[in-house]
Amino acid sequence: MTVFGVDAVQSAGTGELVVGAKDIVTPLARELARERGVTIVVASAHPPSSPVTANQSLPPAPVAVAPVFARPSSNGSQSPPAPLKPPAPALYRRGAPLHPAVAPAALHEPRTRRPELPSAAKSVGRVVVVGAGHVGMITAMKLAEANIIEEVVLVDIAEGLAAGIALDLTHSTALLGFDTKVRGVTSLAEAGAAEFVVITAGRARQPGMSRTDLVEVNAGIVGALARDAAGISPHTVLLVVTNPLDEMTHHAWRASGLPANRVIGMAGVLDSSRFQALTGLAIDSSPSSVRALALGSHGDEMVIPLSQARVGGTTITDAIPQAEVTALVDRARNSGAEVVGLLKSGSAFFAPGASAARMVLAMATNSDEIIAATVCANGQYGIADGYVGLPARLGRTGLREIVELPLSADELASVRTAAARIAERVADLEQMAAPA
Ligand code: LAC
Repeated sequence: MTVFGVDAVQSAGTGELVVGAKDIVTPLARELARERGVTIVVASAHPPSSPVTANQSLPPAPVAVAPVFARPSSNGSQSPPAPLKPPAPALYRRGAPLHPAVAPAALHEPRTRRPELPSAAKSVGRVVVVGAGHVGMITAMKLAEANIIEEVVLVDIAEGLAAGIALDLTHSTALLGFDTKVRGVTSLAEAGAAEFVVITAGRARQPGMSRTDLVEVNAGIVGALARDAAGISPHTVLLVVTNPLDEMTHHAWRASGLPANRVIGMAGVLDSSRFQALTGLAIDSSPSSVRALALGSHGDEMVIPLSQARVGGTTITDAIPQAEVTALVDRARNSGAEVVGLLKSGSAFFAPGASAARMVLAMATNSDEIIAATVCANGQYGIADGYVGLPARLGRTGLREIVELPLSADELASVRTAAARIAERVADLEQMAAPA
């Protein structure tokens, strides 16, 4: 006896799923088959069974006795046809008492196993994460663990790297209770069309290197990837993680030809989280009691509008002396470099990867939360046509809305300065990239 789950239905595509008379098709697999129009055919040697669609109930015979496929007898002829008696429909219903033929196997299932999810319950088909370095790996892991994406595909040109990480991650599915498919390939073409493409590929910062030092080499990588990703998935949302973040996000937008709402950068989530963590540590409180948004650039012009920041229900500057808050903002701004300095080689990855995944999940779920993201302003905050970190609501089509918070005059000026500096660096980059 074989138990057919949703995987089997998925593998059947839109065709038939052939099962033996003694086999079990799980209720959720049956539901999925119904949704996808997969016909479940109960096989027998002779006569062939009539197809049973997932919409029909199975014949009400209570006991399964027929062999799945008849074996040839010793003289070469087939065994006489066995009566086709699939298990009772009650077996296939959620909550129905287990048939004795199934119960022993069921006893072996780990008690902590989450209920099997039909793929229809996954709200996203495919997310591609480009770059199987540390950041890409953590992004893929967090996305897979969220269990709302059918397939996460990791792409890296280094032969075997993405495939190895994908396999390793897959080995943790039973352990951690998720069933996201994880695949590793060497090209975007092999990955296939995706609803979201996260670009983490590029050189990482080395000690002493500024993000801007990376601009030329990473622009070449990110531009080509953005173009290819948009060619393969014209309706995708690109999330850029590669540094220098603000410039690379703008560059990806230009190179991809996608509408600006579909190209977003990850930085504010990370910088906000760093500030929350550092502040939580400083006041011996939970980081989640700290609310703050890091806007502006991912670098020197990062701005945390303190008028909007809270600890518990209190304005942050009422809870913590101003000088201490300023030191915390500075430390958050330099946190990337602080980690690079400690690691000696490579840059931060846990918080950046988790931040990228968090943004994809916010988009996938059309979350209503306001999060800091690098987005293309279109007049909001007095900033015309340029990428900068702003409070945003994200959704399935990328940027849904830039949220205009009541910033103080100084805060507003700092955010505008950040946008102006980013625009200057983007102009430099475009000049660098322009044909001579
Ligand atoms: C950092 C890199 C990801 O801030 O920019 O750690």
